[in-house]
Amino acid sequence: MKNIVILTGAGISAESGMGTFRDEGGLWTQYALEDVATPEGFARNPALVQEFYNIRRVKAAAARPNEAHEALARLQREWPGRVDIVTQNVDGLHEAGGARDVIHMHGELAGALCAACGHRWEAPAEMAVGEPCPACKGPHARPDVVWFGEIPYHMDRISDLLDAADLFAAIGTSGQVYPAAAFVHQAAAAGAHTVELNLEPSELASGFDELRSGPASRVVPDWVGDLLSGRSGR
Ligand code: APR
Repeated sequence: MKNIVILTGAGISAESGMGTFRDEGGLWTQYALEDVATPEGFARNPALVQEFYNIRRVKAAAARPNEAHEALARLQREWPGRVDIVTQNVDGLHEAGGARDVIHMHGELAGALCAACGHRWEAPAEMAVGEPCPACKGPHARPDVVWFGEIPYHMDRISDLLDAADLFAAIGTSGQVYPAAAFVHQAAAAGAHTVELNLEPSELASGFDELRSGPASRVVPDWVGDLLSGRSGR
């Protein structure tokens, strides 16, 4: 039976109130990404970066998964083959919606990382500047999220999944950031059927076999229903 690989972006969590980055009013219209999503920004002003992630961590902890997150968890439960979810999001809403073994290529807001010794632990709701690392005790705690200029996590595993995909879907992502934006090409080269589910066609839409436009909370459950009933894309 078919292997399904799903890439998700901020759009799948938009209806859970998490906002997106590049839409009107998105995070990158409120903050300069160089200031809050780069190692240089963290070195320059750690207080601003910790505040940026503390606000998002508290917001994510209060957010509820929507029907799109829950539909992907249903697909994982009921599909007879593999269903691997690779997310660019750091909000934890896939797991809150029942998904399992989610691959967090940009890390997680719930995680803390020691910039000095590499130790990882569960982040406090509000991480202070100079938060001590439980392992080396140095004041080097940072959010365990992947910043611009850093290497995304789990890329070897993701590449193997794409090479074995029969069906690839990109949900709620603008396709502006690599390497995630190139996943559709790698899956297509492996012979996968490719589907984009988005509020509106992204800049990458022409690279997909199939487009399903509309809010994720509607188009994702519809797509999952079509797959499980055999009406689509097997
Ligand atoms: N339903 C479906 N799609 C939606 C919805 C919705 N309700 N609302 C917005 N979208 C779509 C937009 O049309 C857009 O294509 O979600 C996408 C959001 O794009 P971005 O804001 O660029 O978010 P994303 O693609 O996840 O960004 C990728 O960039 O800044 C980095 O690390 C950050 O992981 C992020 C990466």
